[in-house]
Amino acid sequence: MNAGGPMSRGVDEDVPNVARIYDYFLGGSDNSAADRAAAAKIAQTTPEVVERVRENRDFLGRAVEFLAALGIRQFLDIGTGLPTRQSVHQVARRVVPAAHVAYVDYDPAVVGHARALLAGDPDAVAIEADMREPALILRRVTEQGFINLDQPVAILMLAVLHFVPDTAQAAQIVAAFREQMAPGSYLAISHATAGTMSSDSLAQAKQVYASSSAGSITLRPPDEIEAFFDGLELEKPGIVPVAYWRPRPRGPELAVTDVVQFAGSPPPTAVPPATYGPAFLAGVAGRPANPQ
Ligand SMILES: C[S@@+](CC[C@H](N)C(=O)[O-])C[C@H]1O[C@@H](n2cnc3c(N)ncnc32)[C@H](O)[C@@H]1O
Repeated sequence: MNAGGPMSRGVDEDVPNVARIYDYFLGGSDNSAADRAAAAKIAQTTPEVVERVRENRDFLGRAVEFLAALGIRQFLDIGTGLPTRQSVHQVARRVVPAAHVAYVDYDPAVVGHARALLAGDPDAVAIEADMREPALILRRVTEQGFINLDQPVAILMLAVLHFVPDTAQAAQIVAAFREQMAPGSYLAISHATAGTMSSDSLAQAKQVYASSSAGSITLRPPDEIEAFFDGLELEKPGIVPVAYWRPRPRGPELAVTDVVQFAGSPPPTAVPPATYGPAFLAGVAGRPANPQ
């Protein structure tokens, strides 16, 4: 398998970098002029991208809280991104203080940031690796003792699978991780979809990502995203645009007890699929625990 992308990653400021473009959309400052120009080109025809990216990062927070509230103590975050907003270990540990978190990204700059953030933290690790090598990733996280695959684990693949152009390859990658999930484990995925996006806007976005560190972006229809969860049981509300996945009631920040309560509450109203434009679709699915 090819462990590298078509262009230099992380260090070349002249090549728009997908982690830094995302950082810019989130309001971060870890981006170069090339990243900002690339982001502006996308936003020109798809202005809602800024809101969608922020919703995606908020989904990360709600999904991790949900999973921690279910008792998950190990998290494997693949395609970590820059720590512009709260990272997985910060969110998880509000619920499970001893949560183990392994971060994986193929961008050395992203991994550098994660390591700086995690310095002195014995229960978290950042690994530079390509998700197209699942066996290598699983070996490294288990060898280091951070993740025990005999115990429930949450595997997060948020806003990363659309950087694999071949759908069969993306499905194989997810399957390789899914197959190693013990009963009681969960898989969370968010993935770009075109929805009602115009063909011009789609072409513009694809062109920008073609010259980025990732080399491409492949927006997939809902059925292809749903297939990534094959063999698992989707939690309610199923696969929906990220903003509709167990949204919080508006109001002051919730306490952990509220989060636990909310995790068990009925799902919010679903959105009719025909009405969303470019979106991140997301779902969280589990492998049922063995009966006692
Ligand atoms: C858009 S960011 C998403 C960050 C975070 N997961 C989130 O949803 O907020 C995508 C990240 O995936 C990483 N990435 C892309 N392709 C990858 C691959 N083949 N292996 C590992 N990481 C990859 C990029 O370097 C980037 O940091």
